[in-house]
Amino acid sequence: MKKTAIAAIVLAAGQGVRMRSALPKVLHPVGGRSMLAHAIDAVSALSPQKLVVVVSDQGQEIGDTAKALKANAEIAVQSPPRGTADAVAKAMPLIEGFEGTALVIYADTPLIEPETLMALRDTLATGASAAVLGFRSTNPGGYGRLKLDGHGALTAIIEAKDASREELQIDLCNSGVMAIEVDFLRQALPQIDANNAKGEYYLTDIIALAVQAGRTCAVIERDEEEVLGVNSRSELALAEAIFQNRMRRKAMAAGVTLLDPSTVYFSFDTEIGEDVTIGQHVVLNPGVKIASGTEIRAFSHIEGATIGSNAIVGPFARLRPGTDIAPDARVGNFVEIKKAVIGEGAKINHLTYIGDAQIGARANIGAGTITCNYDGFNKHTTVIGDDAFIGSNTALVAPVTVARGAYIGSGSVITKNVDEDALAVARSRQSLIKGWAVRFRQSNKANQTNKTKKST
Ligand code: UD1
Ligand code: CA
Repeated sequence: MKKTAIAAIVLAAGQGVRMRSALPKVLHPVGGRSMLAHAIDAVSALSPQKLVVVVSDQGQEIGDTAKALKANAEIAVQSPPRGTADAVAKAMPLIEGFEGTALVIYADTPLIEPETLMALRDTLATGASAAVLGFRSTNPGGYGRLKLDGHGALTAIIEAKDASREELQIDLCNSGVMAIEVDFLRQALPQIDANNAKGEYYLTDIIALAVQAGRTCAVIERDEEEVLGVNSRSELALAEAIFQNRMRRKAMAAGVTLLDPSTVYFSFDTEIGEDVTIGQHVVLNPGVKIASGTEIRAFSHIEGATIGSNAIVGPFARLRPGTDIAPDARVGNFVEIKKAVIGEGAKINHLTYIGDAQIGARANIGAGTITCNYDGFNKHTTVIGDDAFIGSNTALVAPVTVARGAYIGSGSVITKNVDEDALAVARSRQSLIKGWAVRFRQSNKANQTNKTKKST
């Protein structure tokens, strides 16, 4: 199939008032990144020659986000927002001279798959001037309705507010995503008026204009779940739920065991190898990579962490950004790790904080070990060599190095470097007073007897 050049136009100038939020609607996250990023990522799969994001005069943050995602993104400002056709018109100067297909997508529609956009593009190559992404809904509500002729070709899009009772019965709805020949778009945009219930310039009117001009328009249908448009917090929660289910299905299809799928939460960029097992109630925030054969046990919370193969993490582990765990390591319950490299086969099994550290291979970190990495101004590094053994309840006051093979006595506060294979004990010596407890008990008992005598 012929692959035409693509100019992607992402609409994000709407006000999103129904979100009731100081954050622009399209910057609200689904699966750990903004809806805008989802939309931009989906169109980017088509390698567009042009990428224009239309924002309102309040849209600085949206424009900055788009540029941070794609350096070649160009920003068009629409002020005031006067409808979707007006928004597209504001993008046109930025694609002047461009020949090919314009792909219009709404930034509040985060779940569209790149394959769907490719199918839409390819539909134009079959001779249609415009192709619209549609879906069937049992509750079409405020969506625009797609009118077809007897041959299944699209003849018009009727906005719900302008639809007759009969038209409202149509269950085929407009997702808002449209591929359109850019020449025709240029020609038709100025012909669109605002004579409708909302007094807005509707991009959807372009279909009837195309048909009047003797052109054909097509529809491709996808599931309602994929084209959900988010206008409220409830719809945001619904989009998140759909996204999570999609990720769970993908993970299981890729060879990951989820002991209770509905309680495991993924991010857009989660990477998991085969034969990984994930227990109940595990949260994987952005930036997580888990290699094959590893087990993540229940109630663990992981973000920005890389975990090697055949490791065991949790239950109740917290891995924060910059954690890099080598194969065969063990991280147990109530262990928090931040910005630290944990060597192969190292064990950190209980009640520990490791921050800004390097832990050698096979090192054993005892229960209650704390790296004291922060002095109120700066973070300092703790280095622990291969095969070192850190006794329970050790405080490692960074910067400090414990060389390979060294032992640290339990309860130590380590402030100075420890040599290879040495033993460091840094706690006060135990004193022993023979028979003290007997004397202590006797004198207290005598006092008690005196008191009871007095009070009677
Ligand atoms: C729109 C469609 C409707 C479709 C529905 C799918 C039109 C006229 N209607 O309705 O057929 O069923 O989406 O979700 O297109 N925007 C601008 N500038 C504007 C107005 C909107 O950039 O002046 C942007 C918004 O930020 C949003 C998108 O366009 O990303 C859609 O706008 P919205 O007001 O949500 O349209 P709907 O009423 O949902
Ligand atoms: Ca909408």
